Amino acid sequence: MGPPIIGVSDNIRRIKELVEHVAHTGFNTVIFGESGVGKEVIAQNLYQRSPRVGKPFIKINCAALPEGLLESELFGYERGAFTGAEQKRRGKFQLAHGGVLLLDEIGDMSLVLQAKLLHVLQSGEFAPLGSEKDVKTDTWVLAATNHDLKQDISEGKFREDLYYRLNIIKIYVSPLRERPEDIVPLIEYYLAEYSTQLGGTDIIRPTQAVIEKLTTYHWPGNVRELQNVLKRMLVLGECEKIADELFESTGKQQAMRSAASSENSAGAIHSLLDLNGKELSGNNSFSLKEAKKKAVDKVEKEIISYVLKKTDWNRSKASRILKVSYKTLLNKITELNISPPGHGDFQQ
Ligand SMILES: Nc1ncnc2c1ncn2[C@@H]1O[C@H](COP(=O)(O)OP(=O)(O)O)[C@@H](O)[C@H]1O
Ligand SMILES: [Mg+2]
Repeated sequence: MGPPIIGVSDNIRRIKELVEHVAHTGFNTVIFGESGVGKEVIAQNLYQRSPRVGKPFIKINCAALPEGLLESELFGYERGAFTGAEQKRRGKFQLAHGGVLLLDEIGDMSLVLQAKLLHVLQSGEFAPLGSEKDVKTDTWVLAATNHDLKQDISEGKFREDLYYRLNIIKIYVSPLRERPEDIVPLIEYYLAEYSTQLGGTDIIRPTQAVIEKLTTYHWPGNVRELQNVLKRMLVLGECEKIADELFESTGKQQAMRSAASSENSAGAIHSLLDLNGKELSGNNSFSLKEAKKKAVDKVEKEIISYVLKKTDWNRSKASRILKVSYKTLLNKITELNISPPGHGDFQQ
C-alpha cells in the first residue's frame, strides 16, 4: 500500500502524531488540503495503523461520478432496481465492511446523497437501491476534500449535520509551498524509490543549485507535481534544465492568466450574482445595491482572513492593523463567517 508520511515540517510532524492517536479510535475524520498534498497517503496511514488493517480499504471519488451512479456505487443495487441493473451489485459500503471507506472529494457530493450518507452514519444501516431490506455496515468513514466545507455550509452546498458527523477529527494538510523544509526529504525518498523501480542503476544526485530551485518553487500541484518533476529528471537526466523550466512555465502561465483575466472577471461577476452563465434578462436580474453588498462582503472577508492568517489569529493585533475596534473585528468575523483553516480538534 501507500508510502509512509514523509516530512519534517511542523504541519507534517503534527499530522504524524495525530495519525498515531486517531488510528485506533475509529473516529470519523476529514482530511482537508489542496490537491496533491497527500490526503490519501494520510488516510492510508490511518488505516495501516488501525485494528482494521487487513480488512478492505476502499476509496471512492465523489467528484468523478454523476449523482445516480455515485449512489449505486456507494450503496449497491438489487437486480432489476433500474433499467440495465441485470445483476445484483454490492456497493462500496458493503465492500468496505469491517474496513475503511475513504470518501474522496466529499465537498462535491450532492445534497441528496449527503442526506443518504448522513442516514447511514447515524443508523449504521442502509438499503441498496431496489431493496426493502436494510443492510448493516461497520465501516470506518474517512473523507477528504479540497473545499472549505464551512464556506460550503454557509452557501447551502454542504449539510451542517453531516459536517459534524464526519468531522470528529480534522486534519489540515498545508500546501507544499508553505512547508519547504519537506521538499528535500521528499526528493530523497522519491528519488530512491524511483531508482529502485528502474532497477537501481539510474541514481541521480541533483546539485545544490537544483535543490535550491526546487525549494523556492511554489508547487501549485504540490507533492504530485514534485513527483512528476523527479521522474522527468531521472529519465532525462537534465536536472538543471528541468528545474529552470518550472519557473519559465510559471511565467507563461501568469501571462496567460492575465490575458484571460477579462473573461475571468465576467465569470467572477456571474458567480457573485449567482447568475451561473445565464443571459441577463428581466428574469435573471439583480439589484445593484445587493450586488454591491455581496462584493464588499467578499473583499472584506478576504482581507480580514488574510490579516488573521498573517497574525496567527491574534485578533487584537489584527484589529490594530485593520484600524478597527476589537469588538468590530469580532462582529465582522461572526457576520462574515470567518474561521481558522484548521480550527477544531487540530489547531493550525
Ligand atoms: N507526505 C508525503 N509523504 C510521502 N508521499 C507523499 C506525501 N504527500 C504526498 N505524497 C505522494 O504524492 C502523491 C499525491 O498524494 P495524494 O495523497 O494522492 O494527494 P491528495 O489526495 O491530497 O490529492 C501520492 O503519490 C502520494 O504518495
Ligand atoms: Mg487525492
